[in-house]
Amino acid sequence: MSEGAAAWQVARAPAKVNLSLEVLARRADGYHELDTLMLCVDLADVLRARRVERPGLALRVGGAAAAGVPADERNLAWRAAQAVLARAQRRAGKLLGLELALEKHVPSGAGLGGASSDAAAAVLAAQAALECELARDEQQELLASLGSDCPFFLASPSGLARCTGRGERVEPLGRAPPAWWILLLTPDVSCPTAQVYSAVRPPLCRPAGLPSLGPQTLDLPAREARGGLFNGLEGAALRSVPGLRAWKDALSRCGAEHWKLSGSGSTFYGLHDDREEALAELDRLRAELGRSGLRPRLATAVRPAGRGAALVPPESGARA
Ligand code: C5P
Repeated sequence: MSEGAAAWQVARAPAKVNLSLEVLARRADGYHELDTLMLCVDLADVLRARRVERPGLALRVGGAAAAGVPADERNLAWRAAQAVLARAQRRAGKLLGLELALEKHVPSGAGLGGASSDAAAAVLAAQAALECELARDEQQELLASLGSDCPFFLASPSGLARCTGRGERVEPLGRAPPAWWILLLTPDVSCPTAQVYSAVRPPLCRPAGLPSLGPQTLDLPAREARGGLFNGLEGAALRSVPGLRAWKDALSRCGAEHWKLSGSGSTFYGLHDDREEALAELDRLRAELGRSGLRPRLATAVRPAGRGAALVPPESGARA
């Protein structure tokens, strides 16, 4: 630790997938009214924060998925931490210094909520580093101002919630996460969220006859739960993002039609009941992608995280 710097406070920022996403209407403010069920998975960024002598905010970005991630005010983690820093400075009546180190593992522009989760983790780590706790509704208001799915990551301790409004109204589901294995495939194309939404013609509700994906469905074996997955944005993403269709076609060629897009994409995910079955499908898929000349940014198997963004207790030994 450098002179004048305090201990790092560490928070995990998990990725999410949308198990269901209905686009109910286009609103007067340009956003879309949603009804979505989101689940955190155990692929996560790590956000570290510590007090330093030099006043102001500094952010470093590293890790396997760091390419193209800004290390300034364009980064939602930076903006979240800056808001907490401003509050701490007002309380202290003087300028303070905060250093952030963001380790990226979650690909960006991928429908996995990485930047939004980083913002939630930044609130937690900055609060702890500056010993400046915001009230719960202030935290949620701050996060909602940064992005529609930011509040989910802080307001869903089990990492599972139904979100409505433009996505910022969170009803956490306090229950054990499903026992599934989840395969993630992130293409080498990014999906700009606004571009995908602008190609949407709501309402895009789950078709009549498709089983509802209520909390009880989460106890079903993956094979049965697959039938209830729905993403109203998938058609718009395939239409509006050049290159995405080739990945969907590659999934179909290896019998993985059950895979769904997460959020506005570009990540596709598939549910499985057991690890061997999941890994065998991932191997088939990798071989097919290789034959087609498609290089994924990420192709991996994960589990439900069982939590949203959270501070890592100091004794668990996460090192900066
Ligand atoms: O809220 P967020 O900054 O993530 O939204 C990015 C863009 O996605 C918005 O500017 C809007 O165009 C679109 N969006 C939307 N309806 C939502 C969420 C996002 O139209 N519920």
